[in-house]
Amino acid sequence: MIKKSMFAVLAATGLALTACGGGGASAGAANGSGGDKITMGFAQVGAESGWRTANTKSVQESAKEAGVDLKFSDAQQKQENQIKAIRSFVQQKVDVIAFSPVVESGWDTVLKEAKDAKIPVILTDRAVDSKDTSLYKTFLGSDFVAEGKKAGEWLVEQSKSSEPVNIVEIQGTTGSAPANDRKQGFEDAIKDDPDLKIVASQSGDFTRSGGKQVMEAFLKNNPDIDVVFAHNDDEGLGAIEAIEAAGKVPGKDIKIITIDAVKDGMTALSNGKINFIVECNPLLGDQLMDLAKKVVAGQDVPQRVVTEETTFTMEQAKQVLSSRQY
Ligand code: AHR
Repeated sequence: MIKKSMFAVLAATGLALTACGGGGASAGAANGSGGDKITMGFAQVGAESGWRTANTKSVQESAKEAGVDLKFSDAQQKQENQIKAIRSFVQQKVDVIAFSPVVESGWDTVLKEAKDAKIPVILTDRAVDSKDTSLYKTFLGSDFVAEGKKAGEWLVEQSKSSEPVNIVEIQGTTGSAPANDRKQGFEDAIKDDPDLKIVASQSGDFTRSGGKQVMEAFLKNNPDIDVVFAHNDDEGLGAIEAIEAAGKVPGKDIKIITIDAVKDGMTALSNGKINFIVECNPLLGDQLMDLAKKVVAGQDVPQRVVTEETTFTMEQAKQVLSSRQY
């Protein structure tokens, strides 16, 4: 059963968009070695989502602008491919390695190899769960727990009447930092409302096809779904296809909350097919190049650089859609 009153009033959340990609120092100034070209090995997760495509573009464009020689590798969402790429960067003696870990665990050995070769490592977008923080210089990226929390808080805010709300969760890649953290943040936010129940939870691997498949199975096994919490826009967009194929109206019969705010997601939010999006900003390129130059020059950098982000209701999405870059 859907709470009729639940979505009547949409909470107005902060609209200010924060430009996180706006690095700062120019190439020459940031690079303590006097502007010499540095070589960066970058091991990307893959091309699983609109967010990832925007992130790759940002890194490649920023490297070009900053005069950084970028060696780019696409791991196709496989940890063993990323490990191979990092080993090859070590062999090539690059100046700095940056990577966005597919999953959180299992990195100590290869990171130790980079450390022994005196090549600094920057974590970008996703974290590792290693206890040895000396294995990397800094971690640049979003606070994924906060993202999940914002999604859950919005739902709590909309659910003022005392009727049960059945939630299905489409998780991101199993074992990845954003899947682990967004799940935790969302659960924390809804735990004190006894009406909000996660009735099913499964991974859609951060892809549109994964989201569609998982949602098809959810619809078969759960006749009474009120809300989908998808860990990214692509999964939410896949879920929309499954909901429509089942003869239901996404955004009305079943409410949808996602994370990312890429253009396709924002379009669906503007059209009322998604109800709320928490932003995850992929434009990390400029900040990454800035940090890389400092690290190579032996300068101090903060251990953690958190990306600032906002949230979007339908009205807010409509206002920014035409100027959305990605
Ligand atoms: O790590 C960031 C997440 O990975 C984004 O939310 C998702 O779209 C991507 O695939």
